Amino acid sequence: MGMLDGKVAIVTGAGHGIGRGHALELAKHGAKVVVNDLGVSVKGEGQGKDADLTVDIIKGRGGEAVANYENVADYEGAGRMVQQAVDAFGKLDVLVNNAGIVRDSAIWNMSEGDFDAVINVHVKGTWAPCHWAARHWRERSAAGETFTGRVINTTSGAGLVGNFGQTNYATAKAGIAGMTQTLSLELAKLGVTVNCVGPAAATRITGTMPGAPAVIEPDEVPEDEWNRMDPAVSSPLVAWLASDESQLVTGQIIRAVAENIILMKGWADGPTINNKGKRWDAAKLGQQLATDVFFTRAPGLRY
Ligand SMILES: NC(=O)c1ccc[n+]([C@@H]2O[C@H](COP(=O)([O-])OP(=O)(O)OC[C@H]3O[C@@H](n4cnc5c(N)ncnc54)[C@H](O)[C@@H]3O)[C@@H](O)[C@H]2O)c1
Repeated sequence: MGMLDGKVAIVTGAGHGIGRGHALELAKHGAKVVVNDLGVSVKGEGQGKDADLTVDIIKGRGGEAVANYENVADYEGAGRMVQQAVDAFGKLDVLVNNAGIVRDSAIWNMSEGDFDAVINVHVKGTWAPCHWAARHWRERSAAGETFTGRVINTTSGAGLVGNFGQTNYATAKAGIAGMTQTLSLELAKLGVTVNCVGPAAATRITGTMPGAPAVIEPDEVPEDEWNRMDPAVSSPLVAWLASDESQLVTGQIIRAVAENIILMKGWADGPTINNKGKRWDAAKLGQQLATDVFFTRAPGLRY
């Protein structure tokens, strides 16, 4: 018995890298997988049938998978992708939003097109599949069915703590973390959990950075070998989040970096000052913020 026997999953951007790792892992545990990939370059150019590469591996290992070549940021295309899961395997249980591109540069060199393209693939390319999956789950719920739906989104250290040269990507990945938290509230009553994973691996995306390690694909790393940059390092976490065991975990942002699985603790109230019902005075505010909020020396003092 596999922990995902009977489950139907979509993994977006699963032709390469981390997505391929997730698709292979979900299939290993018994899920039937719709392998989505538009087959683009790391910058989002071109188009191809790269999804076939992963489907062939899954089938070669005795699993069930079908290829999907839609652009996840295309509203209707995302709808067709969810429908394909229903047509091929009868339903959708698990949606893993992983597809992504990068177009890095410092903000003064970044073109409007590079900003828009990255926001589109990551943010709309996460929202649109979620939208269609949510409609599918609402219909099943309205028909009286009980089930355990799963959304697993993909964020990044850049979106959670920032990274030079990635204002487009970091904005998109922070947006996905925020979308995850709100969607977890919206889907809770349906029994659907929504979480977000932050991976790290030697993929085509990291391969664009100076001094990056050589790109590896997950099937190139033998099952019994540990490689801290393996694109599949975060895949066991994704498989567990996809399983029924994780029912009580939702709205969480979890990084899986080499040996570590890290629960991220984000925005939380910090030091607070209270104006006791009066308007703040900008001329006096700096001193109060310095001493009672930032716990530093009062402004005006020489450092
Ligand atoms: N590599 C890392 O260290 C790292 C770290 C944090 C987050 N991530 C995220 O992990 C995800 C996977 O990236 P990767 O590193 O495996 O890169 P990758 O380039 O190997 O894989 C990304 C895949 O997404 C596909 N894709 C791109 N745009 C698409 C679209 N519009 N529709 C459908 N498919 C599309 C590409 O064809 C490609 O196969 C991305 O969301 C990325 O931002 C990666």
